[in-house]
Amino acid sequence: MKILEVQHLNKSFGGLQAINDLSLGFEEGEMSSIIGPNGAGKTTFFNLLTGYLRLDSGKILFKNQDISKLPNYKIGRMGINRSFQISHVCPSLTVFENLRASILSKRKKTFKFFTNVGGMKDIEDEVMSSLDDINLKDLAGTPATQLPHGALKSLDIGMALAMDPQIALLDEPTAGMPSGDRMRIMDLIQRLWKQKGLTIVFVEHDMDVVFAFSQKIRVLNYGSLIADGTPEEVSQNPVVIEAYLGDED
Ligand SMILES: Nc1ncnc2c1ncn2[C@@H]1O[C@H](COP(=O)(O)OP(=O)(O)OP(=O)(O)O)[C@@H](O)[C@H]1O
Ligand SMILES: [Mg+2]
Repeated sequence: MKILEVQHLNKSFGGLQAINDLSLGFEEGEMSSIIGPNGAGKTTFFNLLTGYLRLDSGKILFKNQDISKLPNYKIGRMGINRSFQISHVCPSLTVFENLRASILSKRKKTFKFFTNVGGMKDIEDEVMSSLDDINLKDLAGTPATQLPHGALKSLDIGMALAMDPQIALLDEPTAGMPSGDRMRIMDLIQRLWKQKGLTIVFVEHDMDVVFAFSQKIRVLNYGSLIADGTPEEVSQNPVVIEAYLGDED
């Protein structure tokens, strides 16, 4: 079953068609990527899916329900959560406090928070277990502003996944990292994906990462879908090689 699907999606900024008649769907439980050159529309696509931007036309269906007109917070509560190309971690809060904010917001989503007597201890346990998931337990008391880049990215991903998403959209989870660290972050994401059985879509520029961690790859170019398939299919697609992979060595 397709968990999330778009049909004839369009979005322009002034004269620039950032998303151009885009139709595609994500299978429930898959881990897949979206690739494409800078400015191809990848972040804009995530912004549309999560209600950060309004579409011009088309449809967004989450489990066959039209969510194209819903506000961002409602989409989040339905189970579509994301991490950002530029971190949205709150720098003045500690690692623990940032993660707790995500978990509190999830509790609100499920209405359990206000009915749960003695819930704070519960929440602290959950924060510590989520910190353990992302290997940040030792840094729990560190203000986010003092985190090394890799730990900050881990925290951002941990915060998106702590919301208990059904589908997590991760915008360049490895951006700005040395290649060894990239693989480590992706291993972490893959482990959480298996453990939680969710659907993951990530945007990534590093082709080693893309090919190692994607069951499916979708290629965007000037806001249009130019390929959609397994890593093998996409790597042999002449249109992709010409538009994108041909630039790599
Ligand atoms: N809020 C906005 N206002 C005007 N133009 C925008 C806005 N957001 C994105 N764009 C433009 O839309 C196009 C797609 O941008 P987008 O950020 O979606 O690309 P991207 O594929 O995520 O690129 P990158 O790989 O560099 O992150 C670009 O030409 C960009 O300049
Ligand atoms: Mg982007």
